[in-house]
Amino acid sequence: MAIVHGDSRQVSDELPNLAILPMRKKDIEGVLSIEKLVHPKPWSYNVFLSEISNTKERSYSTLRLNGEIVGYSGVMYILEDAHITNIAVSPAHQGKDYGSALMFALVTEALKHGSKNLTLEVRVTNKPAQKLYTNFGFMPVGIRKGYYQENNEDAMIMWAYDIDSDQYRERIAKIASAKGLIERSKASRWF
Ligand SMILES: CC(C)(COP(=O)(O)OP(=O)(O)OC[C@H]1O[C@@H](n2cnc3c(N)ncnc32)[C@H](O)[C@@H]1OP(=O)(O)O)[C@@H](O)C(=O)NCCC(=O)NCCS
Repeated sequence: MAIVHGDSRQVSDELPNLAILPMRKKDIEGVLSIEKLVHPKPWSYNVFLSEISNTKERSYSTLRLNGEIVGYSGVMYILEDAHITNIAVSPAHQGKDYGSALMFALVTEALKHGSKNLTLEVRVTNKPAQKLYTNFGFMPVGIRKGYYQENNEDAMIMWAYDIDSDQYRERIAKIASAKGLIERSKASRWF
């Protein structure tokens, strides 16, 4: 994926300028334009504002491609658990490993925060997201019936346990290596 020649910082022009950065108030409009495309019941401006304002218990990031916001993620910290509240990549940019990069950054951040487990809810029909989460060691542990009220869809509850273990760290390091995320991070500011 990443095209790196010689010195890892001299990168081919083909490598886009990517960065994962903390989400700021000025980013919310750009985030909303994706949110409205990907979620049947999108969060409002005020929900994002409230979430990013709670810097002790939340961590929100944007993924930028040449400055443009093309994805974002959010996590809520509750004691030893990190609950993924939102993750999305603009439809035009899905399937290019950006979701995996956001997850890798999010997990790295959760580990720094001292989290031991990760959890989330996902629509039972949302196979791309379930694939992403399974790659990152999430397992289905239950169903919340009718959790998504707008279409009465069930949510699958998923957990990834013991993310601070060597085994889990090796798992995500393998993903990063297979997808060339580390090379990209040297060239950009991914992690
Ligand atoms: C879920 C989402 C963030 C993934 O982002 P992405 O940039 O497409 O993810 P990646 O390119 O890193 O792909 C992640 C994995 O999903 C797989 N995948 C991507 N699209 C898929 C599809 N349509 N069907 C099945 N698997 C798919 C990829 O193959 C990859 O697995 P692999 O590495 O084993 O090949 C993106 O699909 C999205 O924004 N969806 C809408 C919002 C959403 O549903 N968010 C989750 C709410 S719980």
